[in-house]
Amino acid sequence: MKLDVLLGLQWGDEGKGKIVDVLSPEYDTIARFQGGPNAGHTLEIGKIKHILHNIPSGIFHKEKVNIIGNGVVLDPIIFQEEVESLKKFGIDVKQNLLISKKAHLILPTHKILDAASEAAKGKSKIGSTLKGIGPTYMDKTGRNGLRVGDIIKGFKEKYSALRKKHEGLLKLYTYEYELDEIENKWFECIELLKEFKIVDSEHLVNKLIKNGKSILAEGAQGTMLDIEFGSYPFVTSSNTICAGACTGLGVSPQTIGEVFGIFKAYCTRVGSGPFPTELTDDTGNRLRKKGAEFGSTTGRPRRCGWIDLVALKYSIMLNGVTQLIMTKADVLSDFETIKVATAYKINGNIVYDFPFETDNNIEPIYIELAGWKKDISNITIPGEFPTELTNYISYLEKELNVPVSYVSVGPKRNQIVKL
Ligand code: GDP
Ligand code: IMO
Ligand code: MG
Repeated sequence: MKLDVLLGLQWGDEGKGKIVDVLSPEYDTIARFQGGPNAGHTLEIGKIKHILHNIPSGIFHKEKVNIIGNGVVLDPIIFQEEVESLKKFGIDVKQNLLISKKAHLILPTHKILDAASEAAKGKSKIGSTLKGIGPTYMDKTGRNGLRVGDIIKGFKEKYSALRKKHEGLLKLYTYEYELDEIENKWFECIELLKEFKIVDSEHLVNKLIKNGKSILAEGAQGTMLDIEFGSYPFVTSSNTICAGACTGLGVSPQTIGEVFGIFKAYCTRVGSGPFPTELTDDTGNRLRKKGAEFGSTTGRPRRCGWIDLVALKYSIMLNGVTQLIMTKADVLSDFETIKVATAYKINGNIVYDFPFETDNNIEPIYIELAGWKKDISNITIPGEFPTELTNYISYLEKELNVPVSYVSVGPKRNQIVKL
């Protein structure tokens, strides 16, 4: 059996959580492979809106195994908060969640370092979620990190050594912080973490595949936030692309089956950095309002703009996407016309390949398509789509050269149309 990968093709928040929840019945196991609580994956089930940060989005399917892979960075405090909030809805995370011994821990001082570093950057700040992601991955690659498997023995000493190093680093900043209270809470949560199934997830995942089980790997963030290929330095600190599923779960490239690329029918970004098709006018405000575009993790307003085929083609290439899933089609129902960026004009030249320099001078070249001006949020079969929406999908499929297999028409589980 193969491992399918589901990931975001834009700057995050494409609706990955909802789609993982929709596809989960088709899989035995759902596994997160990178990122941490910078992610906010929303699932609307019945009248309740759940936002997951560390825990995979398959958790509402009680019979499924969920795994937090080695590539993830875990905040024990946020994790416990999620566990408690799921408990209220009858989900006993202890039953069906496994955590990799090799997942790195986010320390309280990682969060403080994140905040101090951002404050020092001033206007050029990344717009980080301030969850300690960058400093934790820095310690991972710098070979100083603490892993979930370390909590079993000799942990206090290892912790103290890393805390001391962080305190030294914090002296480089003029940043006031208070550690005691959050540290106590953190250690309480570490004790609770010991009650979970902590496993050698790479062995487990490979055995599951060998035994014919199906796995859906759930990406966080989006391709344009990838540390290697995103709009650097305005990116996150992990590999959000498909290759990240190999390193973040310990599987070989040959095990990858389908690659589901999720994109919004338009485009958003939260935090700083280039966004060629951003609309700072009334149209952008309409998209934000209709799409309820406010960050799931930080509540910040998301920047909104038209769909960008230059960036999407780049993402599809990097990930080897085999099926596209378009979300938030319903948000465009209000618009007379829909614009699509097909190229960039940079210093008078027409550019089709996503460029190295993205900081200024990019003028998107748009084509305009007719909107559908019709409520589509209750549609369940593609035959009921307005012609203009069918045309929009066909146009994208032709341009992107990958089939669209699902269209999401609202935030709820059942608001999904299989093509
Ligand atoms: P993720 O990080 O990729 O999981 O996405 P987020 O949960 O951060 O943001 C997506 C937002 O859009 C959430 O509020 C979802 O409930 C919502 N959403 C997902 N799919 C759709 C859709 O098709 N239409 C609408 N209107 N909202 C959607
Ligand atoms: P999901 O999984 C959207 C953005 C931040 C910031 C940059 C770096 O919900 O799609 P970090 O906290 O990683 O240091 O922030 O990346 N960012 C996201 N934007 N969705 C996310 O996750 C994001 N995770 C990080 O806003 O610009
Ligand atoms: Mg999100």
